[in-house]
Amino acid sequence: MSEPKLEDIVSLAKRRGFIFPGSDVYGGLSGTWDYGPLGVQLKRNIMQLWWKMFVDDRDDMLGVDAAIIMNPKVWKASGHVDTFTDPLTECTNCGARHRVDKLPDFIERGTFDAQSVCPTCGKKGVLSEPRQFNMMFKTNVGPVDDENSLAYLRPETAQGIFTNFKNVVDTSYPDVPFGIAQQGKAFRNEISPRDFVFRSREFEQMEIEYFVHPEQWETAFEEWVKRIHEWCKALGLPDDMVHELEVPEADRAHYSKRTVDFEFDFPIGREELLGLAYRTDFDLMNIQNASGKSMEYRPKDGSAPFVPHVIEPSFGVERAIMAVLTAAYTEDEVNGEKRVFLKLPYDLAPIKVAVCPLAKNKPELVAKAREVYDMLRKEFGQVLWVDSGNIGKNYRKMDEIGVPYVVTVDFDTLEGEQKDTVTVRHRDTTEQERVEITNLVPTLNRP
Ligand code: GAP
Repeated sequence: MSEPKLEDIVSLAKRRGFIFPGSDVYGGLSGTWDYGPLGVQLKRNIMQLWWKMFVDDRDDMLGVDAAIIMNPKVWKASGHVDTFTDPLTECTNCGARHRVDKLPDFIERGTFDAQSVCPTCGKKGVLSEPRQFNMMFKTNVGPVDDENSLAYLRPETAQGIFTNFKNVVDTSYPDVPFGIAQQGKAFRNEISPRDFVFRSREFEQMEIEYFVHPEQWETAFEEWVKRIHEWCKALGLPDDMVHELEVPEADRAHYSKRTVDFEFDFPIGREELLGLAYRTDFDLMNIQNASGKSMEYRPKDGSAPFVPHVIEPSFGVERAIMAVLTAAYTEDEVNGEKRVFLKLPYDLAPIKVAVCPLAKNKPELVAKAREVYDMLRKEFGQVLWVDSGNIGKNYRKMDEIGVPYVVTVDFDTLEGEQKDTVTVRHRDTTEQERVEITNLVPTLNRP
């Protein structure tokens, strides 16, 4: 079947309560998105899986959760105040603002000239000279609104890790190499937010700063390439849709000596899913110089102290969600009818199982189904109770939100040879099997 289009994903996400435009009821707010009941669960599952794989299951990782608003000195020292910019042009005819490096004319000719066409109003020669636009959101801390109270919403979670490097070392005494992980919101005043959640103004990152001896950075970098491929696999992303891009020096962030972008074949084309960067000692040295506090690490074996170098795998949650939905979106045909279903990996499915009583006007049947539902809820948390519509329609609905199993309680469950058994229907194959209620939990626990 053909690859899903972006409209298919956006429409399913809204129709089924995964993702809504932010402030929808007031006409939206560009670059912001709200997660509905299924979306929040999917997002949490992705973030929990990440934490499990990269923190809980390893003995060289520690976590932090730093404040979103940090001392503005952080962003001066990190280089963000001076260099976290995108080139902006304004249309003197319609007032639209565009990122210069995203303009079709610029992409085609590699330069920006006065003949370039405004993509909003279509007029030529109306675009202003490009200027650098800093993408950090500003705010003021406290009641006085002046430059002394100026602060920024963090544009990356990474700095909350670097600024806590010493605190973590002094309280947890990890051996190098070790990593510090953090998940949380990041904010960027993107000039042109676009393509659903792909380029948002408020989004979530999952970042690791992995501290190594300066001579060990290459080994650690290669190791992280492998770990990232494992992560993509766990998200259900097919190998042939994930690509490594060695980022040339001119395109690398100001702090990076080597960057590999992991790109994914999104419905909008091949684009960055996540990044892996060698940040050297850039950040720790900046903090050391700006704060006057030593960022040296003293090995327990008494060998010479050093300022560690850093490998940074940086994951965007929204892009992970978009990739997961793209890879999971599947169309097939069942009994001559088109079916859309989300082939989500079991760990990511927002709801693992739904329970349907075959008839809702038979109290005995409903009571038995409730018993099954209560038992499964204890085990699986989110279990859906579905007692309206016909069974075929219910299956289609559950397929569309990626529920791996639907359990149907019918008259045979109550009496006869099949007493105390139920039908379990599998999402991916649509196959059905009869399972004893006492055997349900182990049957549904894993794919
Ligand atoms: N600390 C390094 C850093 O922030 P980045 O490449 O700017 O590096 C890392 O961002 C990841 O964050 C990206 O690969 C992407 O997944 C996600 N990301 C960045 N900007 C985003 C945006 N405007 N909307 C959604 N996700 C974004």
